[in-house]
Amino acid sequence: MQQAPGDVVLYELYVRAFRDANGDGHGDLRGVIEKLDHVASLGVDVLWLLPISPSPLLDDGYDVSDFRGVHPDYGSLDDLRELIDAAHARGLRVITDLVLNHTSADHPWFQASRRREGGKDDWYVWTDDPTTYAGTRIIFTDSETSNWTFDEARGQYYWHRFFHHQPDLNYDHPAVRAEMLDVVRFWLEFGVDGFRLDAIPYLFEREGTINENLPETHGFLREVRRLVDEVKPGAFLLGEVNQWPEDTLPYFGDGSDEIPYLFHFPVMPRLYRALAEGSVAGIRWILERTPLPPAGCSWVVFLRNHDELTLEMVTEDERRLLYAAYAPEPRMRLNVGIRRRLAPLLGFDRARIELMHALLMTLPGAPILYYGDELGLGDDITLPDRHGVRTPMPWNDGPQAGFSDHPAPYLAPIDHPLGGWRTANVAAQEADPDSLLHWVRRLVRTRRSLKAIGAGRFALLDAGDDRLCLFAHDAGPGSHVVAVHNLSAEPVTLELRVERAGLWRRVLAGGSVGPDEVSSASEDATWLPVRLEPYGYAWWSHGGVWTS
Ligand code: BGC
Repeated sequence: MQQAPGDVVLYELYVRAFRDANGDGHGDLRGVIEKLDHVASLGVDVLWLLPISPSPLLDDGYDVSDFRGVHPDYGSLDDLRELIDAAHARGLRVITDLVLNHTSADHPWFQASRRREGGKDDWYVWTDDPTTYAGTRIIFTDSETSNWTFDEARGQYYWHRFFHHQPDLNYDHPAVRAEMLDVVRFWLEFGVDGFRLDAIPYLFEREGTINENLPETHGFLREVRRLVDEVKPGAFLLGEVNQWPEDTLPYFGDGSDEIPYLFHFPVMPRLYRALAEGSVAGIRWILERTPLPPAGCSWVVFLRNHDELTLEMVTEDERRLLYAAYAPEPRMRLNVGIRRRLAPLLGFDRARIELMHALLMTLPGAPILYYGDELGLGDDITLPDRHGVRTPMPWNDGPQAGFSDHPAPYLAPIDHPLGGWRTANVAAQEADPDSLLHWVRRLVRTRRSLKAIGAGRFALLDAGDDRLCLFAHDAGPGSHVVAVHNLSAEPVTLELRVERAGLWRRVLAGGSVGPDEVSSASEDATWLPVRLEPYGYAWWSHGGVWTS
């Protein structure tokens, strides 16, 4: 059977942090190859690598200085080819980050442009007047005060939506568009299975606008898609569009001419709000405003990633609530967001960690796991920027947690009584059948076995109690799932109404008391008695269990 777009599970990893195979203190591609069995064991099918190209690493690789290479710390193009082959042998596709919007200031194109050399004068966005495009918000509010920075060599200001050392490319220049399309072609012909397209709403600028989501930007993305369809039809494209659903929807295009997978940013903070309030209200609010993607397309959902937990797409009241609940100390905050990992955000509480994962896996869309979260890994808020959530993956309780043979790797593995490498390491959790790692594997396997999730119609039902989040997935006769989650710190009992004749089986449960099976003789409503402990959950399935 052909895979439905929502039936994809992704795993995101930072190569520098995953495993250092050559002992130089930095994770590398050969290290990822060594650990591919771990990735595959999670049951995921797309591996997303954070940027791997040459870079001064002032923004961990999102500051690219050569679009067609591999950072020497990470290895070579040959290593990448081997990684892709090894991943394919395990049924995994590999996508890489592609940073279209900007380059590093070290990039030879920018160095030529600031000196007006090599025909690159207009490859970046220059002005004499830094009040140009005044209606544009600043994204990195903690480190930048303007989207313009003065360049001494050129005697003009250049435009940057992110750090000042990341000048934006000028997409009005045909040579820039042609060059970046050629970069897309290069990697597809090389053999990557697709891209996570970084920061795509900001490619073009037009006076009098907010310089986001402009029609010209969609025009260029359609060119990217045409090229992808020509060079590698079916390649996996995932767009980073941190916008409201109505502004994000157009990036799907007509379903066949733009980006098939788009992150759903605004639902994510509302999962955290739901736990803080013990109420489904925020989840309901955003899902009611979430349009269905066109056929063949899917939202992509996540709990955490390599950035701060962004609070850009919430209301003022929600932001206040989330900061108070999850980032009481100022140093836990960054820009408009919270720079913490999943487990510490949830107080290392296993019940709440499971609940959030259970919600993630039953939302409409393809879920992403962030490396380390399968172990309940902690973070380090004493580190600057987002480094505290990009620390080494702990593999065992040996030196440097098995990450590196180097005595002083680029960052130390997290060492903390909760979520530190002594307990949050792969070997320890492999050995413990009750570990979070084993549970995450079971969770992904269960989700993948339920045809209705990812392929069916989705509804958020009214459970008659706002403490409960009740999702239903329906893929036609014989394939239904209802998933009920207790968002609150109190036990809740309910009678779950189901309306199909036949056998309902409980396929996943945590903190849930009730029968394992209920058989209904008719289409009339059957009631499943369920008691959910604080943060408990139970998924019920009617038919449609995939065995493949
Ligand atoms: C990435 C960030 C990065 C920024 C600038 C983002 O959206 O996820 O990590 O700093 O783009 O490239």
